Amino acid sequence: MTGLLPDPTPLLRAEGIVKQFGPVVALNGLSMELRSGEVLGLLGDNGAGKSTLLKILTGFMQPDSGTVRLDGEVVRFRDVQHARSLGIDIIYQDLALVDQLSIVQNIFLNRESTTNGPLKVLRRRAMRREAESLIERVGVRLPSLDQPVGSLSGGQRAAVAIARVVQTNARVLLLDEPLAAVGVREARIVIDVVRNLRAAGVSVIVILHNYGHVIDLCERFYIVRGGEIAEEGRIAGHTSESLIAAVLATRL
Ligand SMILES: Nc1ncnc2c1ncn2[C@@H]1O[C@H](COP(=O)(O)OP(=O)(O)OP(=O)(O)O)[C@@H](O)[C@H]1O
Ligand SMILES: [Mg+2]
Repeated sequence: MTGLLPDPTPLLRAEGIVKQFGPVVALNGLSMELRSGEVLGLLGDNGAGKSTLLKILTGFMQPDSGTVRLDGEVVRFRDVQHARSLGIDIIYQDLALVDQLSIVQNIFLNRESTTNGPLKVLRRRAMRREAESLIERVGVRLPSLDQPVGSLSGGQRAAVAIARVVQTNARVLLLDEPLAAVGVREARIVIDVVRNLRAAGVSVIVILHNYGHVIDLCERFYIVRGGEIAEEGRIAGHTSESLIAAVLATRL
């Protein structure tokens, strides 16, 4: 532990979270917090419990025990829609995009207006304008918004997935390995997008396996081991090697 002072009212806090899958204890009383305006990295070996924690923080799963607090208040997310309505959203590694659909269609997937008749055309125009402003907000250059997402590069795809989430006015964005399917140069685009969001006041928890990216992006980190927090610290002063060493040391 690095002796960091706790934030009196963190934006999001997990306390004593336990989650079992049959005999497997994925989370064993884990506690952590996300502070307002930070990008927080979750590090740890395969199977440590990182993804399970994010699924609980976004309402995809309920914990067996433990509590989640948002702005200091205990919340029980019924499902992802509930968490989303409270400003918490998640992007998984596969980005959940549909390759055959256009950029605009993907951004509004399952969120289109149900209006029929001539209004539907108007609504389409409005969606297009909104898509343009969302893409502008994530700060990335994309080809025609009518282009199928399947023809985009990895970084551009990630930017579309992020634009999709930004439209929900997320205050908290959780990212589970968003760069796993993205090339080295492309990763820069996504890193810049996340930086832009942070500048716009979004707080972020990210799981990244490339510790160079963790150093580029995060201010603080937790190392998860065996479903618990093994170490917490500031990124400043760390190198990829020292982070790897810290993660490996937790195996001892
Ligand atoms: N739906 C599930 N059913 C059964 N076991 C699960 C389920 N989800 C996770 N687990 C188990 O819980 C533990 C934690 O998994 P989790 O996916 O949270 O790890 P992780 O830290 O994200 O690992 P990775 O870095 O490999 O993605 C693992 O032992 C995993 O096999
Ligand atoms: Mg995972």
